[in-house]
Amino acid sequence: MSYQSLYNQMVEKLHKVMPEFEIEIKAKVAYEINKLKEERNAVILGHNYMEPALFHSIPDYTGDSLYLSRMAAETDKDIIVFCGVEFMAETAKILNPEKTVLIPSQRAGCSLASSITAEDVRNLKKQFPGVPVVTYINTYADVKAETDICCTSGNAAAVVESLGTDSIIFLPDEFLAKNVAQETGKHIIFPTKNPKATYDTDLDYQMVGWHGRCEVHEKFTVSDIEAVRADHPDVLILAHPECSPEVVNASDYSGSTTALIEYVEQTQADSYLLLTECSMGDNIMAANPDKEMLRLCSVRCPHMNRIRLEDTRDALLYTQYEVTVPEDIRLRAVKSVERMLQIG
Ligand code: 13P
Ligand code: SF4
Repeated sequence: MSYQSLYNQMVEKLHKVMPEFEIEIKAKVAYEINKLKEERNAVILGHNYMEPALFHSIPDYTGDSLYLSRMAAETDKDIIVFCGVEFMAETAKILNPEKTVLIPSQRAGCSLASSITAEDVRNLKKQFPGVPVVTYINTYADVKAETDICCTSGNAAAVVESLGTDSIIFLPDEFLAKNVAQETGKHIIFPTKNPKATYDTDLDYQMVGWHGRCEVHEKFTVSDIEAVRADHPDVLILAHPECSPEVVNASDYSGSTTALIEYVEQTQADSYLLLTECSMGDNIMAANPDKEMLRLCSVRCPHMNRIRLEDTRDALLYTQYEVTVPEDIRLRAVKSVERMLQIG
């Protein structure tokens, strides 16, 4: 695509969310990236939380964690540039050991992924012997290696139900676990971190959770929702399942980032409020100029915010930063990711 066509496309999408002089600067960088992408036979995967200028210019595929994992598994390009956070790029590497996987910043972490270690999982398995472990994809490779099956926000209940067991360990997001427990009718308990703790075998539980939280989604409250409904009685409120169960229950719909986007596209409401990180609201607004998105939330994920167009250009120019996973860990982690991908 010529520079002029790219610039025009970006203005059309972005004029409501950024000034034109900034679009021009970003379009020049995006044009450079698209040329480098071809020269280096690379594919760019962009999570729904990417900043609008990046989201609407360079990715070959955009979506939620589940869709991007599937695209990472299917690509035939030599290089995968992951515009998302580290656990996502690591999942792409787990699925593609022979390819070069790049993440444009080394500081794009995740509060959920850093809430649990492989040692924590081993201790839980000792405390609850024989109970299968479901791990949210927002974890690092060594944790996935201790896991029976992964899940994302887009398939968590389906993964739990696919196991068909009386009880499961579900890690590490406390709120997602509570929301899934509610959806699947399971009683959930939260053990302490004490590895020596033993549990009464008659204890009433079907799900064992952990105390991880998303630092973005834990900020939304039921009072926020009540205040918005008071001012906008016809608003539709959409919450990501990393929000507390109270917030999810007070909302009109809950789902993965892509499910939230599709819900907005397929419904007609006076206005919408998204309870998830704020760039996604801008991205939806840019793609659906006829929809009114209330912009009352300004909670940006600090980790996703590390990935900008300029970092992505440097990633392709200097082949940085290469994601690596030790082979012994990868071989164990890949089983839990592939098992998840087999579920429709
Ligand atoms: P999705 O899988 O719904 O895209 O969520 C990823 C994430 O990190 C949400 O905070
Ligand atoms: Fe992690 Fe939350 Fe950021 Fe998603 S929004 S990457 S769960 S910190």
